[in-house]
This record gives sequence, structure tokens and C-alpha cells, in this order.
Amino acid sequence: MAETAAAAQRAEPAARPKLSRTWANPLRDERDKRIPHIPGPCSLVIFGVTGDLSRRKLLPAIYDLANRGLLPPGFALVGFARREMADEDFGAEVLAAVKKHARTPFRQEVWDRLAEGIRFVQGSFDDDAAFDNLARTLEDLDARRGTGGNHAFYFAIPPAAFPLVLQQLTKAGLSQGSDEQWRRVVIEKPFGHDLASAQDLNALVNETFPEETVFRIDHYLGKETVQNILALRFANQLLEPIWNAHYVDHVQITMAEDIGLEGRAGYYDGIGAARDVIQNHLLQLLAFTAMEEPVSFDPHQLQAEKVKVLSATKLVEPLDESTARGQYAEGWQGAQHVVGLHEEAGFAPDSRTETYAAITLEVDTRRWAGVPFFLRTGKRLGKRVTEIAVVFKRAPHLPFDATMTEELGQNALVMRIQPDEGITMRFGAKVPGSSMEVRDVNMDFSYGEAFTVASPEAYERLILDVLLGVPSLFPVNEEVELSWRILDPVLDYWAAHGKPEPYESGTWGPRSADEMLHRTGREWRRP
Ligand code: BG6
Repeated sequence: MAETAAAAQRAEPAARPKLSRTWANPLRDERDKRIPHIPGPCSLVIFGVTGDLSRRKLLPAIYDLANRGLLPPGFALVGFARREMADEDFGAEVLAAVKKHARTPFRQEVWDRLAEGIRFVQGSFDDDAAFDNLARTLEDLDARRGTGGNHAFYFAIPPAAFPLVLQQLTKAGLSQGSDEQWRRVVIEKPFGHDLASAQDLNALVNETFPEETVFRIDHYLGKETVQNILALRFANQLLEPIWNAHYVDHVQITMAEDIGLEGRAGYYDGIGAARDVIQNHLLQLLAFTAMEEPVSFDPHQLQAEKVKVLSATKLVEPLDESTARGQYAEGWQGAQHVVGLHEEAGFAPDSRTETYAAITLEVDTRRWAGVPFFLRTGKRLGKRVTEIAVVFKRAPHLPFDATMTEELGQNALVMRIQPDEGITMRFGAKVPGSSMEVRDVNMDFSYGEAFTVASPEAYERLILDVLLGVPSLFPVNEEVELSWRILDPVLDYWAAHGKPEPYESGTWGPRSADEMLHRTGREWRRP
């Protein structure tokens, strides 16, 4: 009887969504992890292909995948945009983007093979004929290039255009897959601008594409160092026993950028740092740091743990004390004098969009009760750095004279996401000499030194996973909605109360952010 109950518990839950089909490579020995997965025949259609994201990230990543031998022979890339272009002109644009931004060296034979499968479809989103043309182009590629009727549609377009494109895909008979031919849709953030709009957007997308065929890109999850949080936590015995409120004093999650908003006013004005970065990248980092161990790395198990921890996460009140926001003013970026946000092209002089945001969260679980999670992000700060610092409590007793430990801080484990990828452990060590003096030192692990292979770009990993149909690194709609649920109260509060505080470019943000931590008796790290 007990055994039957245990077996029933181990059984797959009935309501589990169906995993998208993946192509099994008959040559692959399942035990040999060095042989990479290669997707089956397919085409990738990019809407918004003439935009910045495509040029700087998507097209180079596709070439890098081809260069690494990770695209199938039957692969095609179809660009869709309003501009009048022949296939060859589009090919030339892709080539220019590849030469400028690809990570791996240029190889003519790789390019020639890729170029054979490149097509362009001209049209606007309300043009039925353009979508019929897209359908014919895809059919033609199926016949000539052997793409097998499998299509991924990448929406590198503003969400306002989603309804029309979804409708057109349905009308042109392109949205419906079958057991033999898959359809997937890839969407870029912003996934709404608050909970209600995110729910509407998710409902709209799910009307056309069932949830298991929707791949929401949060490019932070494609970064090796972000995936390494899971390896560090769950492959080792060392940390898990101290990864909790008994030992951890607080956690700081920082994503600092040194660049400003050159040329991105159209997207950023009215969105701001919290919606742009905290709602997605930083809350995902929090989820990886704070979640419980998943039963397995099956995508659904991983997502279930993230959903659980995000459900337990909420803002610490009162919001005027536990949050801060700012807007960059003129200053110096290295040796260069830079203008403030209001002088940037496209920003209204009275814009209240924040370029810096900091919030305090708590995770209401037994593991984390009472441990504040401080999240901050900003543009035009002193340095480009993303890191998660787990700061430990002080030792309960120090058997030294107070003068011996004056320079001893708190132990910390810092997961360095970028640009200097690795892990740092900070602890106290004796300063050489005849007296007992203890001071902080760092022990470093660096990716560059430990491994000889360079990390792929986040978009390489994510595009590959879309084509393989592996959803682990893509947030599900529940995660997106929970993230808005966490953030909405502070967005409403900021909208109703005053303006962001100016901070000098090249510094570490507004004074109110420092005060926010000082109130709790803590300080921001200066990485
Ligand atoms: C994007 C934000 O998601 O991430 C940008 O929209 C930001 O504002 C970018 O600059 C930073 O990405 P990365 O990978 O350089 O840290």
C-alpha cells in the first residue's frame, strides 16, 4: 500500500503541459555530453529584422551557431520588414552585421552555406499579401532547402504590433503546427508594463500559440554565469547548509551599466530602469539564488521552483524608505564629459523616467525569513558590472582584541555574472607580521583561467534552445505575472510621489539609494 502511494507520488502529474518535440540525432551517444544537440530542419522568421537587436545580437548569434556546427543543413533564415529589399540586399545586411558583431571568426564557407537559406519578405504588418508571400516563401524553403515545415517566429517588435502579427499568421495558415511540423513563437520583453497588461498580452499570445510553444526571451538566462548559479548551489555540498537565514545577513543583486541611453529614448522613456531590468533580469537572478533545489532539471521542475520562490517574494515597506530611484545628470565617464538624461535626444525635459532603481525585497519562506534582498540597477554608473553578493552574518564571537579586527568585514560569496566572470569568496585572514591583525582577503575563481573554451553569447544559447524546443531557460507566463505582482506597488507609488533624484554620471547613483541601505545598518558594495 505504502509502495503504491510512493509510486503514485513519483508518477508524472496528469496536467503537465506537453514538451515541444525535439529532434533526436541518431548519431548522438546519450552518454557523451561533448556531442552537441543539433536541431532538426527548420526556419527562423524574424519580424523587426532591420532593428538594433537583430543587427547587434540575433543575426550574429545565428552565424555563430552555424560556425559552431550547431545549425542543421536544412536551416533557413527569413527576415520580414517594411523596407524594400531583394534577398541579396538583405543577405548583404546580414553579412555586415555578422562581420561587425559575431563572436567567432569569419569563415567564408560557413557564410556561403548559411546565405543559401536567407530570404527576405517585404511588407507591413497590416498587409495580407505580405503574409501570403511569407507563407509561399516558407513553402518554397521546405521544398528547396528541406526545412521540414518547422517554423519559429521571432517577434523583435514592439508589443503593440503583436495582435496584428498574430492575426496575420493565423490568417495565412502559419500559426497552427501538427505532430509532424512544429510552430514556435519567440517574444522579447517588455512583457507588458504592469500585471494587468502582462495578463492581457499572455492571453493574447496564448490564443494563437499554446503556452508550450511560447519562448519568452530573458537574455540573462542565456548567460553561462547565470546558469552557473544552479551548478554552484546544487552540485556542491559546501554552500547549501549555510544558504539560509541562519547564516546569511543579506543579499545584494547589482546590475550596473556605464553606458547611457544613446538613441534608445523611443523604447526607454516611460519604461525606466525597474521595468527594463528589475522586472525580468534581476528577479530571475533572485529566483535562481533563493529557490529550493528542483527535483530535476526537467524544465517544468525548474520553472515550478522559480514560480514558488517568486510567489513568496514581496516588497519591504514602507516604500519611501525601502526603495530609491534616480536619473543621471551630466558628469564624467572616464575621461569623457557626458550629458544628462534631459539633454539626450528624444527625452522630454520633464521626463520622470528613472535610469536608476533600487528596491528591498523579502522572501517569505522558512529559509529566508528576515533576510533582505537589495536589488539595484542603473545607467551611467561608475562601472559596468553585474553580480550577486551573498553577505554572511558576522561571527557570533571574536576571540581577538577589538583593534585586531578593525578591518574585518563580513564574509561574502560573490557570483560575478559579468564582465569579469567568476566567483569571489571574501573572508578574514591574518596580516603577516608579529601581531595578530585580521583583514578581508578575496579568493577568486575566474572562468577565463579555469576553462579554455570561451562562453557563448546568451542569444546563441537561447536561439539554439528555441530551435531544439527546450524551454528550461525561458520564463513561463506565471513567472512574468508574478514578477509584475511584486513590482507593481512600487511603480504605482513612484508614479504618485515626486520625481527621481538626479545623480552625477560616473558615480554610484543617487544619495537616497545609499540612505536606503544605511537605514538598515548596511552599505552597498562598490565592486
Ligand atoms: C536589456 C536592457 O535587457 O539589457 C538594456 O533593455 C540593457 O537597457 C541590457 O542595457 C544589458 O544587457 P547586458 O547583457 O549587456 O547586461
